[in-house]
Amino acid sequence: MSKQIKEFSELMEESKIVDIREEINLVLEGQYKYAYEAMMDAYNAGLFVGLVGPVGCGKTALCRKFAYDLNQEFYWITFSDLVRPATLIGSFDPSLVFKYGFSPDSYTPGPFSLAALKGGVFLANELNRGDEYVLNSMLDAMEERRLYIPQLKTWLKAKDKFYVIAAMNPAELKGTRKLPSAIKDRIKVWIHLEYPPKSLEQKIMISNCPEYNLSALTQEKIIELMIQCREDSEVEKPPSLRTSIGIARFVSQRAQRLKVKVDNKLIAESAKLILPDSIQLRPGRNVDQFMRKILTKVVGVA
Ligand SMILES: Nc1ncnc2c1ncn2[C@@H]1O[C@H](COP(=O)(O)OP(=O)(O)OP(=O)(O)O)[C@@H](O)[C@H]1O
Ligand SMILES: [Mg+2]
Repeated sequence: MSKQIKEFSELMEESKIVDIREEINLVLEGQYKYAYEAMMDAYNAGLFVGLVGPVGCGKTALCRKFAYDLNQEFYWITFSDLVRPATLIGSFDPSLVFKYGFSPDSYTPGPFSLAALKGGVFLANELNRGDEYVLNSMLDAMEERRLYIPQLKTWLKAKDKFYVIAAMNPAELKGTRKLPSAIKDRIKVWIHLEYPPKSLEQKIMISNCPEYNLSALTQEKIIELMIQCREDSEVEKPPSLRTSIGIARFVSQRAQRLKVKVDNKLIAESAKLILPDSIQLRPGRNVDQFMRKILTKVVGVA
């Protein structure tokens, strides 16, 4: 065995994820509590649920928490143009076909089929980035609870516990499509999320940097930067929760390395490395000028 192959097989062995579900520490307050409870009610009522919200507002985190708490097998796919029906349903492995012919023994099921047959939860992440033709391959299993495997020319029964949740960005965002009405109508409970209000974003931010000890003042200034960006008419695409978390972690780490307390200058320095590429300004606006404007306003140094 070559050194490279041996190294990879060892890495694979030590890195294997046996259960894709993992416990996550979610701040379950405000809109997240509301959404979580609605998801549980929809699940118990046998209705599929869809979460809609801007980039990085917590949709995937919420779905993962939900799947973990349900204690069912969990599968997911993030949709894009590259996802094909075979990615969801499954496909033949050519080398096994050579050995066994076209039979179940040479078939590798996709995550959607596995969720349906094992009665698991399937998360259709970024559902509205998928091609209509691909989305349609899920319809029968969602409605009639049966799954057609075209290559095997066989209908299979989905388990009663099989459940689908979808998460997506609002339709006006780049790269998204309008959901086909056949899919839209089969997802009955729609929950809309936004970026959370100040105090909740602050809680989420510190819950994502537990190893650092940010002062209340620093926390407030980072959050204020987010609020200023989200309220500014120059901003087309506002910063997500990942941005406040990113600045909080970066500024804490830098202060730790320099053995200093976080001050306004350090916040400005850190924000300049993270914020400009986390937002998008309206056409013709200058990001350096914009950064000077909001940094001067929030921390007094630019
Ligand atoms: N309620 C919450 N409690 C703790 N952390 C959260 C919460 N909501 C979001 N986060 C954190 O914020 C970040 C962004 O969340 P997430 O990835 O779930 O967003 P998303 O809406 O799925 O984004 P995208 O649209 O890009 O897929 C993650 O690091 C996540 O852990
Ligand atoms: Mg996501």
